[in-house]
Amino acid sequence: MTSIEGKTAVVTGAGNGIGRAIAFSLAGAGAQVVVSDVLADDGERTATEIADSSGRATFVQADVSDAAQAENLVATAVDRYAGLDILVNNAGVGGRQLRLHEVEPEDFDRVVDVNLRGTFLCSKYAIPHFLAQHDGRIVNTASTYGLVGAPKAPAYCASKGAIVNLTRQLAVDYGPDGIRVNAVCPGYIDTGLGRRGPTLTPEQFAEASAVRERAAARQPLGRQAQPAEVGEVVLFLASDAASFMTGSIVTVDGGCVTTFNYGDASN
Ligand SMILES: NC(=O)c1ccc[n+]([C@@H]2O[C@H](COP(=O)([O-])OP(=O)(O)OC[C@H]3O[C@@H](n4cnc5c(N)ncnc54)[C@H](O)[C@@H]3O)[C@@H](O)[C@H]2O)c1
Repeated sequence: MTSIEGKTAVVTGAGNGIGRAIAFSLAGAGAQVVVSDVLADDGERTATEIADSSGRATFVQADVSDAAQAENLVATAVDRYAGLDILVNNAGVGGRQLRLHEVEPEDFDRVVDVNLRGTFLCSKYAIPHFLAQHDGRIVNTASTYGLVGAPKAPAYCASKGAIVNLTRQLAVDYGPDGIRVNAVCPGYIDTGLGRRGPTLTPEQFAEASAVRERAAARQPLGRQAQPAEVGEVVLFLASDAASFMTGSIVTVDGGCVTTFNYGDASN
């Protein structure tokens, strides 16, 4: 039931981390995958490695926050594979770890532009193709930070919370047209985004990594996940196995948001 043989999928932010793993999961289940990223070398590498492991993939460079590039991404996918069936809005950035009064307006805008506007733009250009065929599947990568307040991440939390409710809203508008829209909310995933902020020194990086490991160890499953553990859930949501799911917000978080974080109080 999780076969998506012959389907065409666009995955944004697929040069690294979770997006890369999603691209591998979809290709492994038989899809032809349009790997997209703002970073050409990283995206090319993902597409080449999928092709080297008997999958079908091609790379299209795009900054998802740019309308013309998002439109070109979708148009190129449709041209190359004669259609489009699956869109995974995964590209995202974290921003610097600051409280709101310390955040520069342009830094706030950048996080919202990539995470939320990018999701809007790619969906906007993909949905007409889905409407024409009365079938389409969108999976958005939100975050547990879109479900709860987290420290020093105002733009990130706001953008991910918006993606959560945009997912529900799109499910309402497009369900009657055969288009399913769902989101995953990853918790602590062992990726570049998870391990480092955008402007950390090596010392800050090491400290951030240690803090992250300790935080993950306090969650019910007690560890960070590997990106493939998110990729397989996205594959499920994109496949016919999830044929009655739309508007669902699926946590992939080792239990992070199911419980109060007791810290040392439970000892
Ligand atoms: N790693 C985690 O713990 C975690 C947790 C929850 C949610 N997420 C979300 O998962 C998604 C992937 O994160 P990741 O951890 O794999 O990060 P990552 O930094 O490893 O990969 C993100 C990819 O997105 C690309 N990207 C950044 N800006 C872009 C843009 N404007 N246009 C196109 N591509 C762009 C980057 O080049 C990179 O290849 C993000 O949406 C992130 O918010 C990650």
